[in-house]
Amino acid sequence: MAFRLARNRALIAPAKSALGAIPRTALFYSTSSKPASSGQPQASEAETHFGFQTVKESLKAGKVAEVFSSVASSYDVMNDAMSFGIHRLWKDHFVRSLNPGRKSGGSPMAILDVAGGTGDIAFRMLDHADKINGDRETTVICADINADMLKEGEKRAQQQGYISTNRISFRVENAETLDSIPDNSVDLYTISFGIRNVTRIPMALKAAHRVLKPGGVFACLEFSKVSPAPLDAIYQQYSFSIIPLMGQLIAGDRDSYQYLVESIKKFPTQQEFAVMIKEAGFMNVGKGYEELTFGVASIWKGVKPLDSK
Ligand SMILES: C[S@@+](CC[C@H](N)C(=O)[O-])C[C@H]1O[C@@H](n2cnc3c(N)ncnc32)[C@H](O)[C@@H]1O
Repeated sequence: MAFRLARNRALIAPAKSALGAIPRTALFYSTSSKPASSGQPQASEAETHFGFQTVKESLKAGKVAEVFSSVASSYDVMNDAMSFGIHRLWKDHFVRSLNPGRKSGGSPMAILDVAGGTGDIAFRMLDHADKINGDRETTVICADINADMLKEGEKRAQQQGYISTNRISFRVENAETLDSIPDNSVDLYTISFGIRNVTRIPMALKAAHRVLKPGGVFACLEFSKVSPAPLDAIYQQYSFSIIPLMGQLIAGDRDSYQYLVESIKKFPTQQEFAVMIKEAGFMNVGKGYEELTFGVASIWKGVKPLDSK
């Protein structure tokens, strides 16, 4: 018990970076953040989708939490199996394209990885900052609504030797509110395969805009629409018949992987999501997105204008 407490404190100790602005108490690993909604449905309440089901908005976060609590321990293995390891290439490309870390004459970066799950992006960010930019001061907060996913991340942080550094912290946070993250405190906000699970995506984009410093970068990696059409037909066949079956065989959980493929289908098109990013106050970078592997996934980037508050 004492060991665990000490371990957590080491993991979540405040870093000596631009995140100095964040109050010390906010850095403790806690489950105090609540979904933006109460979890109690009201008769007049707006509805949303949970995969192909229609549910009251207040129920979606809980259902998504059930999915990720159920898959947390097999999440990394399943990712490799479902994507034949390609998700690693996408994530490597995502991080390389952001080139995290201190540049000559600059300061270490404060990175916030939202829906960070088991830390795939956070660890890549730190490795890149160190190996490419020679920077061991840049910090990452790995924030997720689900403590079970973060616990898997903590285990990995221990295995990878980040446990003894103060470069990474894990925090339970809802992307829609990011309650413990101060305004204008983050240089780089990332969200990888997380945004489609969020109940009110525009709220999450607003929260991203709030926490980023003017000039800060929003970057999202997410599944998207495949083209050309014949390839999409094969992809849909694979998604809907093979992935839930793999979920059943490898993770013992067909339903969660059925949700996964349905949630991908419900996510906006590349162009629609680029417009949503712009509507949240960001400047799109280029046409707003970059497609990977025929659009199976895409990267969207936006910059918070320098004259924003
Ligand atoms: C598919 S996993 C992605 C994990 C990791 N970013 C990666 O790329 O491997 C989706 C994550 O989104 C988290 N999530 C879902 N809704 C969220 C919300 N409203 N706020 C924060 N995290 C959320 C889930 O708990 C889960 O860990």
